[in-house]
Amino acid sequence: MGHLLLHPHFTSDLEEERKTNLRHTMRAVVVVAALVALVATTVSAKTLWHQLDGYSFEHFKAEYGKRYLSSEEHDFRRQVFERTLASVKAHNSDPTKTWKQGINHMSDWTDGEFKRLLGYDKGIGYSLHRPTPPGFKANVDVNGLPDSVDWRTKHVVTAVKDQGQCGSCWSFGSAETLESHVAVQTGTLEVLSEQNILDCTPNPEECGGTGGCQGGTAEIAYEHMAKHGGLQTEWTYPYLSWYGDNYKCHFKEKMSVVNVTGYVKLPSNQYEPLMDAIANKGPISISVEAVAWKNYESGIFDGCNQTNPDIDHAVQLVGYGDDNSQGYWLVRNSWTPHWGESGYIRIRRTANEGGRCGMDITPQDGSGCKGGPDKVKVCGTCGILFDNVYPTIGVPPS
Ligand SMILES: *[C@@H]1O[C@H](CO)[C@@H](O)[C@H](O)[C@H]1NC(C)=O
Ligand SMILES: *[C@@H]1O[C@H](CO)[C@@H](O)[C@H](O)[C@H]1NC(C)=O
Repeated sequence: MGHLLLHPHFTSDLEEERKTNLRHTMRAVVVVAALVALVATTVSAKTLWHQLDGYSFEHFKAEYGKRYLSSEEHDFRRQVFERTLASVKAHNSDPTKTWKQGINHMSDWTDGEFKRLLGYDKGIGYSLHRPTPPGFKANVDVNGLPDSVDWRTKHVVTAVKDQGQCGSCWSFGSAETLESHVAVQTGTLEVLSEQNILDCTPNPEECGGTGGCQGGTAEIAYEHMAKHGGLQTEWTYPYLSWYGDNYKCHFKEKMSVVNVTGYVKLPSNQYEPLMDAIANKGPISISVEAVAWKNYESGIFDGCNQTNPDIDHAVQLVGYGDDNSQGYWLVRNSWTPHWGESGYIRIRRTANEGGRCGMDITPQDGSGCKGGPDKVKVCGTCGILFDNVYPTIGVPPS
């Protein structure tokens, strides 16, 4: 990392100044922007990877509505953007790559700024590790499952969201998956509150941070909802952490719209149970390595480090399929619809996913987790089979 970080000290000073200036004046704008992002199902035609000849920083600023507060920042962002553009073009001219890179709203972000989005802390996953739930057959016959599944076609998936510059992926992945399971069971698709999860889920193990924008997992989110009264909607508890600030919990149980009773943790590193669950139960809250996803635009992605996958991101699995006999997982991200395939990524899926294993050698990155292992086996493309859960929902008393 760090090759995009041209002037680290300059960046951090600039960052601080930018953040203090913006923080106080932009909060209302942020709320509005977040709400707009939340309801935007489509984006106006964006410049695609094959349209980048002659594409300049001026085009980029106009296309993404970028405004910089000083000429120093303007010049710095231009350098970052130009490096991104050059590496995107180099990637796309490589005929061995099965996916394309493109320009998006993050093309002027440094590696350090991008990595703040990856708020998944693996340490917590271990401390709450649960036994395989009853009812999971050791060997599901995947040949008996549909050839393709896309839960979006069942109207149980909300519009693509925007976590902003906060490491809140874990609250997005868990809220989105809860939305889908509520919709599957009740027929009502609610937009649920990521901020509620961020503000109110404690991180007693203090693994790799303190929760909120500093990371967490779907497990701790569902566990907390099950014990403490559920979750509010986005409209009664809106997203405020776009710039990376944490806030106090103000959850009101009487405003909860969902009765979470717990969660099911899928057996780790096995292909068949994940296929069975996504085909028969609904979307799944999954964890992956996403450090190489920043410039992804389209196609079937296979750019993760399979030798030493570093699980760092939480997202929502909404289906699977095949494209020209190449299997893929259909994954929804929370980086706006500007990113990827209208906010989604297709990740390579093989029949031998469970045998595609590596070692995560930094499972406690961040400030570490007391007593955690120092390396762990991670299987599947981008580690997709490693740590996956879905919530269970109770019925109201009759
Ligand atoms: C994968 O990660 C390991 C550990 O960080 C690194 O040594 C190795 O070079 C990486 N492999 C690739 C192909 O990037
Ligand atoms: C939540 O679901 C459980 C299990 O179905 C049920 O016992 C409980 O009464 C429900 N609670 C509420 C508030 O609806």
